[in-house]
Amino acid sequence: MLKSNVNSDKDEKVYGLINNALQSMIRQNYGDEKWQQILERSGVPDDSFLTMRSYDDSITYQLAGAAAEVLGAPIETCLEMFGEYWVLETATKSYGPLMDASGRDMVEFLRNLNALHDRITGTFLNYVPPEFEVEDVGENRYRIHYISQREGLVPFVVGLFNGLAKRFDCELLYHNKQSEDVAQGTHAIFEVSVK
Ligand code: HEM
Repeated sequence: MLKSNVNSDKDEKVYGLINNALQSMIRQNYGDEKWQQILERSGVPDDSFLTMRSYDDSITYQLAGAAAEVLGAPIETCLEMFGEYWVLETATKSYGPLMDASGRDMVEFLRNLNALHDRITGTFLNYVPPEFEVEDVGENRYRIHYISQREGLVPFVVGLFNGLAKRFDCELLYHNKQSEDVAQGTHAIFEVSVK
């Protein structure tokens, strides 16, 4: 099971919406049988997928770890794939108007991302969304800060960005990725060009 670089002993909670999206991604791309194998391998109870109920973060990490093992892919690749799926499938299909209202291009969208998560706090009580900050560092060049109480999700964020680049049909180039030392959680900085 994935435990090494994902700190799952804190009792952070996450909404079932996330586990549900992971299940849909696997079923759509690999079929029901693979999903059953992953569910069994993960050992998580099979009622971990009620959208509006919150579950221990560890359940999501166990599912992601089991998916990597069953699919024979590195966990980073699975998390990246899930990030892209989250933007292009889950968020677009279930929250289309909110996504449309959050920006006409990728950079505008990223600048509005905290506001997007704020707008759903009424729906997802006590949820702990991440924070994003966009710094201009030159022509079409930005430093994007991702700040979260969680650890191990940077590949998921890379997938989210790649999904947004597809959504807005723009070219996204990563120049540099670094992580700041923080007492708890993650502060990652991506230097990118968006054209
Ligand atoms: C309308 C679409 C969206 C909805 C409804 C949504 C909702 C959520 C929810 C419910 C969580 C779980 C937090 C928790 O349970 O504590 C979450 C986490 C997260 N969301 Fe969103 N989100 C949306 C779009 C996005 C987009 C477009 C991005 C980035 C490009 C994003 C980045 C993240 C990240 C990175 C997390 C993981 C939590 C963390 O890092 O601590 N979300 N979001």
